Amino acid sequence: MILDSDYIKAQIRTVRDWPQPGVMFRDITPLMQDPKTFRVLIDRFVHRYMDQNIDLVAGIDARGFILGSVLAYNLNRGFVPIRKKGKLPFDTIGEDYALEYGTATVEVHADAARAGQRVLLVDDLIATGGTMLAGARLLQRLGAEVVEATAIVDLPDLGGSERLRAGGLAVWTVCA
Ligand code: PRP
Ligand code: ADE
Repeated sequence: MILDSDYIKAQIRTVRDWPQPGVMFRDITPLMQDPKTFRVLIDRFVHRYMDQNIDLVAGIDARGFILGSVLAYNLNRGFVPIRKKGKLPFDTIGEDYALEYGTATVEVHADAARAGQRVLLVDDLIATGGTMLAGARLLQRLGAEVVEATAIVDLPDLGGSERLRAGGLAVWTVCA
């Protein structure tokens, strides 16, 4: 498993000063482009969540959609998109948040989850944790239980996973 994590991590590209000076952007596109790595990655998530009585997988716009939908398919569960503001057509609820390079709002459909449903929250990366926290709040406002916030990468220097845990969420990432 540790070998897998190193193998996956080695294929994440760091792009300096993007989208703005001072940011070291972790780009997961090389990892997804390589079929073996992508399979190893998805298998890690499936292995972790296959026996956890997940009802739904919620993925965060945009890279959380790629991971979350494949994971939902493999777990044989439904998929819920948590989208950036103004993209969902039906009744929505929203949460504002700050991240490393700006502020944003995420929204979810008001009927996306029911009270008591066990939802797995998925994104590609945790930096400040603001995005995951906003996604978790949306699901919790619908009455759902966020089983875990999961991502490929944690950037521990930015404190996000610690912040999420301090907020009462379980967190798991494939690599840090
Ligand atoms: C990135 C990443 C996470 C978020 C993590 O997305 O995909 O969603 O930032 O940052 P945080 O932990 O500080 O909140 P971004 O907001 O750049 O949006 P994008 O998917 O539209 O590129
Ligand atoms: N989101 C916030 N900070 C990021 C980073 N350094 N790389 C990729 N996505 C991010």
